Amino acid sequence: MNVVTTIADVRAAVAAARSRGEAVAFVPTMGALHEGHLSLVDAARRRGGFVVLSIFVNPLQFGPNEDLAKYPRDMAGDTARAAERGTSLVFAPSVDEIYRRERTIEIRPLKFADDWEGASRPGHFTGVLTIVAKLFNIVQPDVAVFGQKDLQQACLVQAMTRELDFPLEVQVEPTVRDSDGLALSSRNQFLSPRERKAALALPRALTRLRAAHRSGVRTGAELERVAEEVLAAEPGIELDYLAVVDTRTFKRARTVGAHAAAIGAVRIGTTRLIDNELLQP
Ligand code: PAF
Repeated sequence: MNVVTTIADVRAAVAAARSRGEAVAFVPTMGALHEGHLSLVDAARRRGGFVVLSIFVNPLQFGPNEDLAKYPRDMAGDTARAAERGTSLVFAPSVDEIYRRERTIEIRPLKFADDWEGASRPGHFTGVLTIVAKLFNIVQPDVAVFGQKDLQQACLVQAMTRELDFPLEVQVEPTVRDSDGLALSSRNQFLSPRERKAALALPRALTRLRAAHRSGVRTGAELERVAEEVLAAEPGIELDYLAVVDTRTFKRARTVGAHAAAIGAVRIGTTRLIDNELLQP
């Protein structure tokens, strides 16, 4: 596995792979790789011959009071884990390599981003879409693989890809969880043992909500109430939002249809975690 840091080197490596007739699959990440990221590499390997994984902590998607400075970084561990899992190329650029000049352009979502992560993290999705568009243009993959844990992000990336006619497929892979049910996240390492126990209320609430849905509850408000009760019983966490939404619009769903999902975000001390459950009919 090669590790490159320049756009020119990625392009050369991808061109060489294409000249060998290999398809190109891409996994964008911000590093601190865990099993969730590595499951995306597995999915990418199933799709293509040449798997590119990017590691770039994108300053544009962090608000002024967010955790950019303390976001976990572990380049040596990341490259070892990526190689072990069969990645072909790691692209780990510097901030200067990616944002070389004063920026005049950004990609701002017109829809789907007003609420939830978009409301709690103003400017976040503009930062995400801008870097993802740049990475798509740099790597030019046939398929890019994203995790369902960041569901609103995945839906926005799919919308951008469709509307801006990027010639690639966006594939979304299921969330990977620890044995206790907590969705894997690079930010879990910030949790103390007590906070981690409290954090489990979020997947517990979503599981309870899904069970209520399976047993026939079909109104969004009722389902939300089931989850909120679980969260209210856990004093260690502060609820940011818990909602049943239609994933085609990211607006609250009054009644639960084929495209519904329950999404939630909580704060535990200084750590913010998100999770979701698709509500299949
Ligand atoms: O999900 C992430 O890790 C990031 O938002 C992404 C897609 C790599 C863009 O920086």
